[in-house]
Amino acid sequence: MANKLYITDTILRDAHQSQAATRMKLEDMLPACEMLDEMGYWSLECWGGATFDACMRFLNEDPWERLRALKKAMPKTRLQMLLRGQNLLGYKHYADDVVDAFVGKSIENGIEVIRVFDALNDVRNIEQAVKSIKKHGGHCEAAMSYTTSPVHNEEYFVSLAKTLEQMGADTICIKDMANLLLPTDAYNLVKKLKENISVPIHLHTHNTTGTGDMTNLMAAWAGVDIVDCALSPLGNGTSQPATEALVATLQGSERDTGLDLKKLSDAAAYFRTVSDKLTKEGILDPKVLKIDVNTLLYQVPGGMLSNLISQLKQANAEDKYYDVLKEIPRVREDFGYPPLVTPTSQIVGTQAVLNVLMGERYKMVSKESKGLLRGEYGAVPAKVNEDVRKKAIGDDEVITCRPADLLEPEMDKYRKEAGELAQCEEDVLSYALFPQVAENFLKKKYAPQDDVKELYVEDLGL
Ligand code: CO
Repeated sequence: MANKLYITDTILRDAHQSQAATRMKLEDMLPACEMLDEMGYWSLECWGGATFDACMRFLNEDPWERLRALKKAMPKTRLQMLLRGQNLLGYKHYADDVVDAFVGKSIENGIEVIRVFDALNDVRNIEQAVKSIKKHGGHCEAAMSYTTSPVHNEEYFVSLAKTLEQMGADTICIKDMANLLLPTDAYNLVKKLKENISVPIHLHTHNTTGTGDMTNLMAAWAGVDIVDCALSPLGNGTSQPATEALVATLQGSERDTGLDLKKLSDAAAYFRTVSDKLTKEGILDPKVLKIDVNTLLYQVPGGMLSNLISQLKQANAEDKYYDVLKEIPRVREDFGYPPLVTPTSQIVGTQAVLNVLMGERYKMVSKESKGLLRGEYGAVPAKVNEDVRKKAIGDDEVITCRPADLLEPEMDKYRKEAGELAQCEEDVLSYALFPQVAENFLKKKYAPQDDVKELYVEDLGL
């Protein structure tokens, strides 16, 4: 690989997921596709993450049709998606045959690069996905969920990266979902990885704490191969650092990205109209652009902070905000220092709220906290607090095998359950991931026009 720094643009996925609740529609994307396809990006992230659910739940769009339309509109660019290991794009473990079918169909419909991660960095939870990506001819980007804790040091990440390389990763991603990776640490970590790993290193960060641009720049000087950015209209804040700023910064240097600022600016002009529209509709709150240093102080991702505020509002306990912020790191320690990313961020956050509101720690324990302590999500990175485990699950057996080993093949069951609703294997997969949402969506999709109106009226409860 030459010395130039490669860019992945996230404008069609993480950018609007982080800033605008994943509500960008296909019709807002298509007018820009020709411009994006001419840019020369390493890849364009445009699918997976929360987009799949949001398509069906809020936008009345078929996620598979969206993918095919994007591929058709951008034949020259590698399309990239984010996959949550054995959870795929849902919130539970799926059997291996579902993982294989989902990965196969994603690649067949236009995805080339699949970034796969596990919230706990338990590699057994991404094993099947990695195998399937290779089998179906995709590019496997294995990601490490970045966090800081007494066990998450440079050594830990270098050794994890080595494991991922041995498993067959084509590139390795440092996935800094919470923008905790500070510039100097990024420099040192990338240096170490470059000394020990031979596949390219890809950095993903956010700009929640205002340090993202500097983190990307320091990583560039340390030799990182690819970084994630988002075109400025949906860049910065809780999203990725802006593409144009990094491209301009590196122009003429030995890490020059080779991207054309004029072309980027033309595409940005278009996306400004999209971001203005989302702001007018109240979907994009300009607050997401403000620097939030609480993330660094409490090691809590930005998205989790806004969830906490709304949970506390509902309980009429907004005055407990800082108590909960202080409780989060304690719960995290009790649970063996899981990185805070979906679904562990919700599990730890909710448990911290319960601990504070009940006035006694672990007086009430959520079903998900019990699952995590029982090993149902995989192995946590460090030792859990045994007293807490005892209080939460008593003498229940703790799972130590790969959680998906306990699952029988499921595709046939989903095919039967979906029945007439599903007219192709893609529909079955939509149903497998989000049964209720997909049922509503598929009924509308295949219903004659008159029935569609009726269903809408029903949905509104009129
Ligand atoms: Co992200």
